[in-house]
Amino acid sequence: MINNARALETAYVPQDLEHREGQIDQLVGELNPLVHGLSGEHSFIFGPSGAGKTTLAKFVVRKLQEESFGVQDAYHNCMSASAKTDVLHGLVNDSGLGKRLPKDGVSTSRYLDCIRDSDDHIVAIVDEVDVLDDETTLIGLSELPNVTLVMITIDEHDFFSDPRFEGRVKSRFRACEKIPLRRYEQHELEDILWSRVDAGLKPGVIDSYVVEYIANKAAGDAREAIILLRRATMRVMHDDRSEITVGDVDAVETGAMEEKRQGHIDSLGTHKRLLYDIIKRTGEISASELRSTYEERSHNPRGDTTRGRYLSALENKYDLITSTGTSRGTTYAVSDI
Ligand SMILES: Nc1ncnc2c1ncn2[C@@H]1O[C@H](COP(=O)(O)OP(=O)(O)O)[C@@H](O)[C@H]1O
Ligand SMILES: [Mg+2]
Repeated sequence: MINNARALETAYVPQDLEHREGQIDQLVGELNPLVHGLSGEHSFIFGPSGAGKTTLAKFVVRKLQEESFGVQDAYHNCMSASAKTDVLHGLVNDSGLGKRLPKDGVSTSRYLDCIRDSDDHIVAIVDEVDVLDDETTLIGLSELPNVTLVMITIDEHDFFSDPRFEGRVKSRFRACEKIPLRRYEQHELEDILWSRVDAGLKPGVIDSYVVEYIANKAAGDAREAIILLRRATMRVMHDDRSEITVGDVDAVETGAMEEKRQGHIDSLGTHKRLLYDIIKRTGEISASELRSTYEERSHNPRGDTTRGRYLSALENKYDLITSTGTSRGTTYAVSDI
Protein backbone atom coordinates (compact mmCIF):
# COMPACT_ATOMS: atom_id res chain seq x y z
CA MET A 1 0.00 0.00 0.00
CA ILE A 2 2.98 2.30 0.52
CA ASN A 3 5.29 3.43 -2.27
CA ASN A 4 7.46 5.85 -0.37
CA ALA A 5 7.03 6.08 3.40
CA ARG A 6 9.19 9.19 3.59
CA ALA A 7 6.63 11.20 1.64
CA LEU A 8 4.24 10.74 4.57
CA GLU A 9 6.65 12.21 7.12
CA THR A 10 6.35 15.85 8.17
CA ALA A 11 10.12 16.28 7.90
CA TYR A 12 10.04 15.49 4.18
CA VAL A 13 10.51 18.62 2.09
CA PRO A 14 8.36 18.12 -1.01
CA GLN A 15 9.66 18.64 -4.52
CA ASP A 16 7.15 21.43 -5.00
CA LEU A 17 5.38 23.62 -2.51
CA GLU A 18 1.69 23.79 -3.30
CA HIS A 19 -0.05 27.18 -3.39
CA ARG A 20 2.98 29.17 -2.32
CA GLU A 21 4.18 30.28 -5.75
CA GLY A 22 3.83 34.00 -4.99
CA GLN A 23 5.63 33.69 -1.67
CA ILE A 24 8.39 31.57 -3.19
CA ASP A 25 8.92 34.26 -5.84
CA GLN A 26 8.96 36.93 -3.17
CA LEU A 27 11.68 35.20 -1.14
CA VAL A 28 13.64 34.25 -4.24
CA GLY A 29 13.57 37.93 -5.19
CA GLU A 30 15.15 38.89 -1.88
CA LEU A 31 17.86 36.24 -2.05
CA ASN A 32 18.53 36.17 -5.78
CA PRO A 33 21.33 38.77 -5.76
CA LEU A 34 23.41 36.08 -3.99
CA VAL A 35 23.42 34.05 -7.20
CA HIS A 36 25.35 36.93 -8.79
CA GLY A 37 27.74 37.30 -5.88
CA LEU A 38 25.92 40.34 -4.45
CA SER A 39 24.28 40.62 -1.02
CA GLY A 40 20.70 39.61 -0.44
CA GLU A 41 18.02 41.50 1.46
CA HIS A 42 16.89 40.43 4.91
CA SER A 43 13.31 39.23 5.07
CA PHE A 44 10.57 38.01 7.39
CA ILE A 45 8.09 35.18 7.02
CA PHE A 46 4.95 35.52 9.14
CA GLY A 47 2.05 33.11 9.58
CA PRO A 48 0.28 30.64 11.87
CA SER A 49 1.60 27.24 12.84
CA GLY A 50 1.35 24.73 10.01
CA ALA A 51 1.22 27.39 7.28
CA GLY A 52 4.52 26.21 5.84
CA LYS A 53 6.88 28.95 7.08
CA THR A 54 9.86 26.77 7.90
CA THR A 55 9.36 24.68 4.78
CA LEU A 56 9.19 27.77 2.55
CA ALA A 57 12.45 29.16 3.93
CA LYS A 58 14.35 25.88 3.61
CA PHE A 59 12.90 25.18 0.18
CA VAL A 60 13.94 28.53 -1.29
CA VAL A 61 17.42 28.46 0.23
CA ARG A 62 17.95 24.94 -1.06
CA LYS A 63 16.91 26.01 -4.56
CA LEU A 64 19.28 28.94 -4.39
CA GLN A 65 22.15 26.70 -3.36
CA GLU A 66 21.54 24.50 -6.36
CA GLU A 67 21.96 27.52 -8.61
CA SER A 68 24.98 29.14 -7.05
CA PHE A 69 28.36 28.48 -5.55
CA GLY A 70 29.42 29.97 -2.27
CA VAL A 71 26.01 30.14 -0.62
CA GLN A 72 25.69 28.31 2.67
CA ASP A 73 22.49 27.81 4.66
CA ALA A 74 22.33 27.98 8.44
CA TYR A 75 19.18 27.14 10.37
CA HIS A 76 18.33 27.70 14.01
CA ASN A 77 15.03 27.38 15.87
CA CYS A 78 14.92 29.71 18.86
CA MET A 79 12.45 27.45 20.68
CA SER A 80 15.35 25.04 21.13
CA ALA A 81 17.69 27.71 22.53
CA SER A 82 17.31 31.46 22.54
CA ALA A 83 20.34 32.99 24.30
CA LYS A 84 22.66 34.87 21.93
CA THR A 85 25.50 32.40 22.27
CA ASP A 86 23.17 29.43 21.69
CA VAL A 87 21.67 30.96 18.56
CA LEU A 88 25.08 31.78 17.09
CA HIS A 89 26.37 28.36 18.06
CA GLY A 90 23.33 26.75 16.40
CA LEU A 91 23.82 28.68 13.17
CA VAL A 92 27.56 28.11 13.02
CA ASN A 93 27.14 24.40 13.64
CA ASP A 94 24.34 23.94 11.17
CA SER A 95 26.29 25.67 8.43
CA GLY A 96 29.30 23.46 9.07
CA LEU A 97 31.52 26.40 10.05
CA GLY A 98 31.71 25.21 13.66
CA LYS A 99 34.37 22.61 12.93
CA ARG A 100 36.98 25.32 13.21
CA LEU A 101 35.90 26.28 16.73
CA PRO A 102 36.53 24.63 20.11
CA LYS A 103 33.53 22.91 21.67
CA ASP A 104 32.99 24.99 24.79
CA GLY A 105 33.45 28.48 26.11
CA VAL A 106 33.28 30.24 22.75
CA SER A 107 32.39 33.92 23.05
CA THR A 108 29.68 35.48 20.91
CA SER A 109 32.24 37.67 19.16
CA ARG A 110 34.25 34.59 18.22
CA TYR A 111 31.17 33.06 16.61
CA LEU A 112 30.51 36.27 14.71
CA ASP A 113 34.14 36.38 13.56
CA CYS A 114 33.91 32.78 12.42
CA ILE A 115 30.93 33.63 10.22
CA ARG A 116 32.55 36.83 8.93
CA ASP A 117 35.73 34.96 8.04
CA SER A 118 33.88 32.46 5.88
CA ASP A 119 34.34 32.80 2.13
CA ASP A 120 30.73 31.79 1.70
CA HIS A 121 27.67 33.95 1.93
CA ILE A 122 25.49 32.65 4.78
CA VAL A 123 21.71 32.67 4.58
CA ALA A 124 20.74 32.45 8.25
CA ILE A 125 17.21 31.19 8.87
CA VAL A 126 16.27 32.24 12.39
CA ASP A 127 13.03 30.42 13.20
CA GLU A 128 10.62 31.49 15.97
CA VAL A 129 12.68 34.67 16.16
CA ASP A 130 10.34 36.40 18.64
CA VAL A 131 11.59 34.06 21.39
CA LEU A 132 15.16 35.43 21.17
CA ASP A 133 16.48 36.45 24.59
CA ASP A 134 18.07 39.61 23.34
CA GLU A 135 17.87 41.80 20.29
CA THR A 136 21.61 42.21 19.83
CA THR A 137 21.69 38.74 18.23
CA LEU A 138 19.90 40.04 15.14
CA ILE A 139 21.78 43.32 15.10
CA GLY A 140 25.13 41.49 15.35
CA LEU A 141 24.27 39.13 12.53
CA SER A 142 22.92 41.88 10.30
CA GLU A 143 26.20 43.76 10.63
CA LEU A 144 28.12 40.96 8.97
CA PRO A 145 28.53 41.71 5.26
CA ASN A 146 28.20 38.06 4.26
CA VAL A 147 24.99 37.27 6.14
CA THR A 148 21.42 37.52 4.89
CA LEU A 149 18.71 36.84 7.45
CA VAL A 150 15.41 35.07 6.95
CA MET A 151 13.46 35.58 10.16
CA ILE A 152 10.34 33.57 10.96
CA THR A 153 7.58 34.20 13.46
CA ILE A 154 3.80 34.09 13.74
CA ASP A 155 2.70 37.69 13.91
CA GLU A 156 4.26 40.84 12.51
CA HIS A 157 2.55 43.23 14.88
CA ASP A 158 3.38 41.19 17.99
CA PHE A 159 7.01 41.04 16.93
CA PHE A 160 7.56 44.72 16.26
CA SER A 161 5.57 45.86 19.30
CA ASP A 162 7.64 43.72 21.68
CA PRO A 163 9.63 46.10 23.92
CA ARG A 164 12.84 44.27 23.04
CA PHE A 165 12.42 44.77 19.34
CA GLU A 166 10.71 48.15 19.25
CA GLY A 167 13.97 50.09 19.20
CA ARG A 168 17.01 49.04 17.20
CA VAL A 169 15.53 45.94 15.63
CA LYS A 170 12.48 47.80 14.41
CA SER A 171 14.47 50.64 12.93
CA ARG A 172 16.88 48.25 11.23
CA PHE A 173 14.39 45.73 9.89
CA ARG A 174 11.15 47.68 9.53
CA ALA A 175 11.64 48.23 5.83
CA CYS A 176 12.57 44.66 4.94
CA GLU A 177 10.47 42.39 2.83
CA LYS A 178 7.63 40.73 4.76
CA ILE A 179 6.14 37.54 3.47
CA PRO A 180 2.78 36.78 5.08
CA LEU A 181 1.45 33.22 4.91
CA ARG A 182 -2.25 32.62 5.53
CA ARG A 183 -3.68 29.46 6.95
CA TYR A 184 -4.32 27.06 4.09
CA GLU A 185 -7.83 26.88 2.71
CA GLN A 186 -9.65 23.58 2.45
CA HIS A 187 -8.87 23.02 -1.25
CA GLU A 188 -5.21 24.01 -0.75
CA LEU A 189 -4.78 21.47 2.04
CA GLU A 190 -6.42 18.86 -0.15
CA ASP A 191 -3.81 19.54 -2.84
CA ILE A 192 -1.00 19.28 -0.30
CA LEU A 193 -2.43 15.94 0.85
CA TRP A 194 -2.83 14.71 -2.72
CA SER A 195 0.79 15.38 -3.52
CA ARG A 196 1.79 13.26 -0.49
CA VAL A 197 -0.71 10.58 -1.47
CA ASP A 198 0.63 10.46 -5.02
CA ALA A 199 4.24 10.29 -3.84
CA GLY A 200 3.68 7.98 -0.89
CA LEU A 201 0.78 5.61 -1.51
CA LYS A 202 -0.15 3.08 -4.14
CA PRO A 203 -3.13 4.04 -6.33
CA GLY A 204 -6.63 3.40 -4.95
CA VAL A 205 -5.71 3.46 -1.26
CA ILE A 206 -7.64 6.63 -0.46
CA ASP A 207 -10.80 8.19 -1.90
CA SER A 208 -11.21 11.88 -2.52
CA TYR A 209 -13.87 12.29 0.16
CA VAL A 210 -11.46 10.88 2.77
CA VAL A 211 -8.82 13.39 1.67
CA GLU A 212 -11.47 16.12 2.02
CA TYR A 213 -12.33 14.79 5.45
CA ILE A 214 -8.70 14.96 6.61
CA ALA A 215 -8.26 18.47 5.21
CA ASN A 216 -11.40 19.60 6.98
CA LYS A 217 -10.27 18.16 10.31
CA ALA A 218 -6.85 19.76 10.03
CA ALA A 219 -8.48 23.20 9.62
CA GLY A 220 -5.72 24.88 7.64
CA ASP A 221 -2.78 23.26 9.44
CA ALA A 222 -0.65 21.29 6.97
CA ARG A 223 1.33 19.59 9.73
CA GLU A 224 -1.80 18.18 11.27
CA ALA A 225 -3.15 17.04 7.90
CA ILE A 226 0.04 15.13 7.08
CA ILE A 227 0.18 13.47 10.51
CA LEU A 228 -3.46 12.38 10.16
CA LEU A 229 -2.76 10.90 6.74
CA ARG A 230 0.28 8.97 7.94
CA ARG A 231 -1.39 7.60 11.06
CA ALA A 232 -4.52 6.56 9.17
CA THR A 233 -2.30 4.76 6.65
CA MET A 234 -0.44 2.94 9.45
CA ARG A 235 -3.73 1.86 11.01
CA VAL A 236 -4.99 0.38 7.76
CA MET A 237 -1.70 -1.44 7.21
CA HIS A 238 -1.75 -2.77 10.73
CA ASP A 239 -5.27 -4.15 10.21
CA ASP A 240 -4.22 -5.66 6.90
CA ARG A 241 -6.86 -3.74 4.97
CA SER A 242 -6.34 -1.94 1.68
CA GLU A 243 -8.33 1.30 1.88
CA ILE A 244 -8.30 4.27 4.26
CA THR A 245 -11.76 5.19 5.55
CA VAL A 246 -13.23 8.15 7.40
CA GLY A 247 -13.42 5.87 10.44
CA ASP A 248 -9.65 5.39 10.31
CA VAL A 249 -9.15 9.15 10.35
CA ASP A 250 -11.43 9.51 13.38
CA ALA A 251 -9.66 6.67 15.14
CA VAL A 252 -6.21 8.25 14.79
CA GLU A 253 -7.21 11.82 15.62
CA THR A 254 -6.23 11.79 19.29
CA GLY A 255 -2.92 10.07 18.50
CA ALA A 256 -2.25 12.66 15.80
CA MET A 257 -2.81 15.54 18.21
CA GLU A 258 -0.52 13.86 20.73
CA GLU A 259 2.13 13.38 18.09
CA LYS A 260 1.95 17.03 17.09
CA ARG A 261 2.25 18.06 20.71
CA GLN A 262 5.13 15.66 21.35
CA GLY A 263 6.99 17.05 18.34
CA HIS A 264 6.77 20.48 19.86
CA ILE A 265 7.83 19.24 23.30
CA ASP A 266 10.84 17.42 21.83
CA SER A 267 12.02 20.61 20.16
CA LEU A 268 12.07 22.64 23.39
CA GLY A 269 15.40 23.75 24.80
CA THR A 270 16.45 23.21 28.44
CA HIS A 271 14.66 26.10 30.09
CA LYS A 272 11.41 25.90 28.19
CA ARG A 273 11.37 22.14 28.68
CA LEU A 274 11.96 22.47 32.40
CA LEU A 275 9.11 24.98 32.75
CA TYR A 276 6.82 22.69 30.78
CA ASP A 277 7.82 19.62 32.83
CA ILE A 278 7.18 21.40 36.13
CA ILE A 279 3.71 22.46 34.98
CA LYS A 280 2.96 19.00 33.68
CA ARG A 281 4.07 17.27 36.84
CA THR A 282 2.03 19.48 39.16
CA GLY A 283 -1.10 19.56 36.99
CA GLU A 284 -1.78 23.14 37.97
CA ILE A 285 0.68 25.57 39.48
CA SER A 286 0.68 29.20 40.56
CA ALA A 287 3.11 31.64 38.99
CA SER A 288 5.04 32.09 42.23
CA GLU A 289 5.32 28.37 42.89
CA LEU A 290 6.42 27.82 39.31
CA ARG A 291 9.07 30.47 39.67
CA SER A 292 10.53 29.01 42.87
CA THR A 293 10.50 25.43 41.60
CA TYR A 294 12.13 26.53 38.35
CA GLU A 295 14.82 28.51 40.16
CA GLU A 296 15.51 25.57 42.41
CA ARG A 297 15.88 23.10 39.56
CA SER A 298 17.72 25.20 37.02
CA HIS A 299 21.49 25.64 37.17
CA ASN A 300 21.35 29.10 35.65
CA PRO A 301 17.75 30.28 35.90
CA ARG A 302 16.59 32.98 33.53
CA GLY A 303 15.13 36.21 34.93
CA ASP A 304 11.45 37.07 35.21
CA THR A 305 11.09 38.73 31.83
CA THR A 306 12.77 35.96 29.89
CA ARG A 307 10.87 33.30 31.80
CA GLY A 308 7.62 35.12 31.09
CA ARG A 309 8.46 35.14 27.41
CA TYR A 310 9.18 31.40 27.41
CA LEU A 311 5.86 30.73 29.11
CA SER A 312 4.00 32.84 26.63
CA ALA A 313 5.71 30.97 23.76
CA LEU A 314 4.66 27.64 25.29
CA GLU A 315 1.12 28.94 25.50
CA ASN A 316 0.62 30.93 22.32
CA LYS A 317 3.00 29.39 19.86
CA TYR A 318 2.85 25.70 20.63
CA ASP A 319 -0.41 25.54 22.60
CA LEU A 320 1.25 23.36 25.23
CA ILE A 321 0.01 25.19 28.34
CA THR A 322 -2.81 27.49 29.40
CA SER A 323 -2.77 30.32 31.88
CA THR A 324 -5.64 31.79 33.86
CA GLY A 325 -5.77 34.95 35.93
CA THR A 326 -3.49 37.93 35.53
CA SER A 327 -0.03 38.88 36.78
CA ARG A 328 0.52 37.67 40.35
CA GLY A 329 -2.64 35.58 40.42
CA THR A 330 -1.81 33.59 37.29
CA THR A 331 -1.97 29.80 37.38
CA TYR A 332 -0.58 27.51 34.68
CA ALA A 333 -1.76 24.11 33.53
CA VAL A 334 -1.02 21.79 30.62
CA SER A 335 -3.53 22.40 27.83
CA ASP A 336 -6.03 19.77 26.73
CA ILE A 337 -5.58 18.12 23.40
N1 LIG B 1 2.77 24.38 0.43
C1 LIG B 1 3.11 23.17 0.90
N2 LIG B 1 3.21 22.11 0.06
C2 LIG B 1 3.54 20.92 0.56
N3 LIG B 1 3.76 20.66 1.85
C3 LIG B 1 3.67 21.67 2.74
C4 LIG B 1 3.33 22.96 2.31
N4 LIG B 1 3.30 23.78 3.37
C5 LIG B 1 3.58 23.02 4.44
N5 LIG B 1 3.82 21.75 4.07
C6 LIG B 1 4.14 20.67 4.98
O1 LIG B 1 3.40 20.90 6.17
C7 LIG B 1 4.18 20.67 7.34
C8 LIG B 1 4.20 21.92 8.20
O2 LIG B 1 4.94 22.93 7.55
P1 LIG B 1 5.94 23.89 8.35
O3 LIG B 1 6.79 24.58 7.36
O4 LIG B 1 6.65 23.12 9.41
O5 LIG B 1 4.92 24.92 9.02
P2 LIG B 1 5.23 26.13 10.03
O6 LIG B 1 6.71 26.32 10.08
O7 LIG B 1 4.50 27.31 9.47
O8 LIG B 1 4.63 25.68 11.35
C9 LIG B 1 5.53 20.22 6.83
O9 LIG B 1 5.56 18.83 6.88
C10 LIG B 1 5.60 20.70 5.40
O10 LIG B 1 6.37 19.82 4.62
MG1 LIG C 1 7.98 26.17 11.67
